[in-house]
Amino acid sequence: MKKISIIGMGYVGLPLAVAFQKYFKVTGFDLKQTRINELNKGFDINNQFTKKNLNKCSNLNFTNKRKDLDKSDIFIVTVPTPIYKNKEPDLRHLINACKLIGSKIKKNNIIIFESTVFPGCTENICGTILQKISKKKINSDFFLAYSPERINVGDKKNTLEKITKIVGASNRKTLIAVSKIYSKIIKAGVYKCESIAVAEAAKVIENAQRDINIAFINEIGNIFNKLNINLNSVLNAASTKWNFLNFKPGLVGGHCIGVDPYYLTYISKKIGIKPRVIDAGRYTNDLMYKNLSNHFHKLINRNSYKKNKHILVLGLTFKENTNDLRNSKIFDFCQNLKNKGYKISVYDPLVSANVKNKNFSLYNKINFKNKFNSVFFAVPHKKILNNFNKVSNFLEREALIFDLKNILTSKKIRSDLKIFKF
Ligand SMILES: NC(=O)c1ccc[n+]([C@@H]2O[C@H](COP(=O)([O-])OP(=O)(O)OC[C@H]3O[C@@H](n4cnc5c(N)ncnc54)[C@H](O)[C@@H]3O)[C@@H](O)[C@H]2O)c1
Repeated sequence: MKKISIIGMGYVGLPLAVAFQKYFKVTGFDLKQTRINELNKGFDINNQFTKKNLNKCSNLNFTNKRKDLDKSDIFIVTVPTPIYKNKEPDLRHLINACKLIGSKIKKNNIIIFESTVFPGCTENICGTILQKISKKKINSDFFLAYSPERINVGDKKNTLEKITKIVGASNRKTLIAVSKIYSKIIKAGVYKCESIAVAEAAKVIENAQRDINIAFINEIGNIFNKLNINLNSVLNAASTKWNFLNFKPGLVGGHCIGVDPYYLTYISKKIGIKPRVIDAGRYTNDLMYKNLSNHFHKLINRNSYKKNKHILVLGLTFKENTNDLRNSKIFDFCQNLKNKGYKISVYDPLVSANVKNKNFSLYNKINFKNKFNSVFFAVPHKKILNNFNKVSNFLEREALIFDLKNILTSKKIRSDLKIFKF
């Protein structure tokens, strides 16, 4: 049985390890001791797997010991690819992973990268490090492939095996071999790309495209707000045309959509092209928290809810139905309102109560200490929607709800509550 070693046991690496262990011997490697200890006890802090599911994985060994990577046939890299403060790619995790793998490479190994990067990164940066450390040559001693992960955090419907896997490789033989390996676990099938760069580019534009589409809706939302036209009513009307793309306004955060476009703009600038559309999308989405918090502040004042300067924000994570707080813009949103003199309580049933922040008090249970008359419904977790009536018990007789995602329409809520859609 072939041995696959997966480097990075996060949101991407763990589901892959669980899926592959049905067919291969899998080593799930992570530098973080706590993550490995927890996984060994069957606990997944990301809530992707239950203890029962993890305990069933008899071919999967979690480790943070480098020697456990010996005798691997295939390495798969799933480490984070964040950005620096200046928005340029931070490749430190990727480079460290390459150095580690480089020291372990044996003849005929295949190294597959799944982390999101810019086109050219796998061959020019990762490949170079692997060759240098291992003193071996690509396509004669070992082989490279790139197969981006395309899962959505918190999405229980479009899971790993249901999403077509795209693959690019350093030569035809590797492309076929890697496609065969993924075919074992991917029911949706494998799409073979003509090169590694095509597969890298395909992934990075998927998220950049989404970012730009959301930015457009955010921008028109800002315009229509000033014109006193309701954005959601406009979107409902426009959606009656068959080819209208129905995106929703939002605070773009997380590890992918708010980050990956910078990988594309980085490489674009490197080759002398100033990417105006992608940059504009990023700029609009990055500042959306300011527009929304200013607008919310105006609504509170316009509707004389201003006597109570204590507001409730529903949801803290970067998107619904996940406990992932990475780059969540709700933090900035709250800070902007705190600067305007508000006291803020945030309710998020998926987040640990230990998350501390000087700008708000965090609740993960509906046991607030007071009543509110202004609510910003930011993140429509199912758990919040299902308990909305309980939340309503903590609202004043007349209250204002800003429903960012226009999700409360079909829900029965108290008639004295005023719902604002963006
Ligand atoms: N989260 C998603 O839904 C998603 C979807 C598609 C693509 N991606 C991409 O996949 C990659 C991984 O994302 P993620 O969300 O799984 O990240 P994550 O932060 O959840 O997990 C990464 C893990 O890698 C470990 N790690 C870091 N450096 C390491 C090293 N040198 N050796 C071993 N382990 C190391 C970390 O401790 C962490 O546990 C990123 O490039 C991301 O952009 C993520």
